[in-house]
Amino acid sequence: MKVLVIGGGGREHAICTALKKSPKVTGLWCAPGNGGIADIATCVDLKATDVEGVVAWAKEQAMDFVVVAPDDPLALGMVDALEEAGIPAFGPRKNAAILEASKDFSKSLMSKYHIPTAKYQTFTELEKALSYIREQGAPIVVKADGLALGKGVVVAATVEEAETAVREMMEDHKFGASGSKVVIEECMVGPEVTVLAFVDGEHLVPMPSSQDHKRAYDGNKGPNTGGMGAISPSPNYTPAIAKRCMEEIFLPTVAALKAEGRPFHGTLYFGLMLTSDGPKVVEYNARFGDPECQTVLSLLESDLLEIMLACHNGTLDKTEVRFKNAAACCLVLASGGYPGSYEKGKVISGLDRVENAIVYHAGTAKQDGRIVTSGGRVLGVTAVAPSLEEAIAASYAAAKPITFDKMQFRTDIGRV
Ligand code: AMP
Ligand code: GLY
Repeated sequence: MKVLVIGGGGREHAICTALKKSPKVTGLWCAPGNGGIADIATCVDLKATDVEGVVAWAKEQAMDFVVVAPDDPLALGMVDALEEAGIPAFGPRKNAAILEASKDFSKSLMSKYHIPTAKYQTFTELEKALSYIREQGAPIVVKADGLALGKGVVVAATVEEAETAVREMMEDHKFGASGSKVVIEECMVGPEVTVLAFVDGEHLVPMPSSQDHKRAYDGNKGPNTGGMGAISPSPNYTPAIAKRCMEEIFLPTVAALKAEGRPFHGTLYFGLMLTSDGPKVVEYNARFGDPECQTVLSLLESDLLEIMLACHNGTLDKTEVRFKNAAACCLVLASGGYPGSYEKGKVISGLDRVENAIVYHAGTAKQDGRIVTSGGRVLGVTAVAPSLEEAIAASYAAAKPITFDKMQFRTDIGRV
């Protein structure tokens, strides 16, 4: 089958790497791809959000299957458009991708179907939002309703901080239209765990749990980023908690979406907090997390294409989904300054001296035969080992030879 993957980050490099192993894949393309993906797939010069362009290209080149990995094209309805053009695709349609694209939608779905999450209210008027914050007190969490590159969430320690966040979203339009509606919710406390699950509209198969490290600096300090590293599985996710999550969160979510006439096909991301009151949903995403994907797919033993086709066809219950009984760690090497402004075009050296790990490329490009930086998160050095401790040690050891000017990374991935 001729397969096109949409996106160009570390997540897409991991997806392409796993798809490449499938005997059914006869050709692999990626739009737009990156400097590392270019080694295993043909990069197509199309933006991930160019729905019309992607559909036209996929039709013209007779693609058999398209994997839509990032949130924006899913929210824009790329899967719907591909399917209307007769091209099967992996990922939720627009009416199910709204689970990630609107926090107000996801919160009201959870409340309607009694899925545990933080208490909340939604506001479209600044004054009402401000008085709710004063009434509730701090700590309190302020979220822009729409997509904001994972940056539209402020966990405010004081009432003043929360007020500033709401003003920035609603008055200064810091996140554009995404912030004209805000969700204000109770602050939960506890370890965070991610569980990604394959979903075919009706059936759900969870992947091994994982844990992202969203803050830029060691000790979970500094600004929120897309993710500075991840481990899988999460030591906090015990079999007893997994059972509760399955019964109280995962299955009810899939059933709720089906009941609402929005069947979910694709990867459903459960961002969970393990509170003293039991596991609760922090957020849903309608796609693989990045960098969680890099760890989890490194553990996959079954054929990813078969699984993705089953998610599309509704036959996941008849498909083998098996993971290695091992652990993985993905260490992100980022550009100095990220998630703020940073320079691009720095030459990356040492990639040929990496041992015992896969280096998934994110913000890289090929320039005159050399690999240079082209984004904030540059590389994800990912190691698999029998235990988590060994996987963490292996990814740090593997990253040692890699250097580029102003390289930045956390030294405590998997340890906090
Ligand atoms: P989100 O984009 O919704 O995942 O939020 C980003 C981060 O903010 C999460 O990973 C949590 O660490 C934190 N967060 C979001 N909602 C809450 C909440 N209700 N209570 C505490 N922390 C939260
Ligand atoms: N790593 C978090 C996300 O992909 O949303």
